[in-house]
Amino acid sequence: MLPRMDSFVIHGGRKLSGSIAVSGAKNSALPILAVSLMTDAPCSFGNVPLLRDIQTQVKILNTLGVETTWQGRTVRARVKDTYNSTAPYELVKQMRAGVCVLGPLLARRGEAVVSMPGGCVIGERPIDLHLRGLEALGAVIELDHGYIKARTPAGGLRGAEIYLGGKFGSSVLATANVLCAAVLAKGATVIECAACEPEVVDLAECLNAMGAKITGAGSPRIRVQGVRRLKGVDWSVIPDRIEAATFLIAGAITNSAITVTGCRGDHLMAVLDVLRQMGIKVERKGTTLTTVPSGRPKACEVVTLPHPAFPTDAQAQMMALMTIAEGTSTITERVFPERFMAAAEMKRMGARISVANGQAVVQGVDKLSGAEVMASDLRASAALVIAGLAAEGETRISRVYHIDRGYERIEERLRKLGARIQRIAGSDAAPATASGTAG
Ligand code: EPU
Repeated sequence: MLPRMDSFVIHGGRKLSGSIAVSGAKNSALPILAVSLMTDAPCSFGNVPLLRDIQTQVKILNTLGVETTWQGRTVRARVKDTYNSTAPYELVKQMRAGVCVLGPLLARRGEAVVSMPGGCVIGERPIDLHLRGLEALGAVIELDHGYIKARTPAGGLRGAEIYLGGKFGSSVLATANVLCAAVLAKGATVIECAACEPEVVDLAECLNAMGAKITGAGSPRIRVQGVRRLKGVDWSVIPDRIEAATFLIAGAITNSAITVTGCRGDHLMAVLDVLRQMGIKVERKGTTLTTVPSGRPKACEVVTLPHPAFPTDAQAQMMALMTIAEGTSTITERVFPERFMAAAEMKRMGARISVANGQAVVQGVDKLSGAEVMASDLRASAALVIAGLAAEGETRISRVYHIDRGYERIEERLRKLGARIQRIAGSDAAPATASGTAG
């Protein structure tokens, strides 16, 4: 069933308080679920967030012969048949991350046919690095009628030295795909310029628990010694660092004490550093982070880059905070230079933002005012919710199906913190395309 065109109505300008628990990381769960394709043994994945993108990934796996059952937030998965190795357009168009079945399928079945994921509102999103990396392992790839058709050569994939750097640096899902393929290739692989994101580390650790031999994940050089087969696994997905960042920024913009539980502070260092520079105090106790009411934030200069630098997925939310900071902030996007869709909508709320050449200049205003705005992608929607929490009066955000892709029941959880936010059910179905996906 397609999602509906629901809206949020927020009455902002209120302080929040209380505690909110972070869900499992969407961007970890998506490639990790796909490793179930790499073994005949049963796999169990815990702390999987209940999100639309995860449902789509599970549907893709089902199409590929993986039987799945849900129990709470645990997905049990086991390959039942291997007849179909095609991930169809109808599903991949709903979520670009469907492309991360490519490496696992190729490695285990010797062939993979995966719909090309196309662009989305945050930019062009090419797949050249995925293909280049798999070809270096010996895969034979052709692009045909909108599909990536990949097969292993006679004798299978072979380990190789692979440079996986692109014009914007490393790629998270290309690293995931190549890593999965290298795990079942013959011999040793070195991936240079690998993505260092915590989600890549989670994937590598999950694969190691299945019997893979991977070292160096989390650094730009990953080494893999190929193994013949993998066993099943019982894995729990890491907490979602972007969701945690979103809640911390919500605490900061409303000048509130919010406790975010179940966080990995070591995954959030760049975000915490920017908050500190803006004068926002955050107390850290174990896995708990609490925003301390710190008054009006100060302006700051932020540059997004691959991990461990400031994450692009928290850029729009941080821009929301900058709109009410004292002074002029800049935010430079070096991962997806066109990812500024939230700016025009926040301007409708009284923000003063100008965007040019991959940079937003944000002149802080005293107050935002509620307005009707439209969500265009996942993180832009989160930014509009944050802005709406701070704005005076009513903010109505349409097309919130985007936010449902990456935040579980966000309005219910924010209400528990005292936010006045309601979901208004829409009558029309949302379009089933990845054009606004950004996932
Ligand atoms: N790139 C290439 N060639 C490729 C692949 C990527 O040039 O073959 C470029 C991209 O155009 C971009 C940069 O490399 O400029 C980084 O893109 P990356 O491949 O790392 O993005 P991704 O793996 O497709 C994941 C997340 C995104 C997140 C990015 C960057 C998942 C499912 N998605 O996408 O998450 O923004 O990494 O950190 O893991 C989100 O959750 O809102 C989201 C968009």
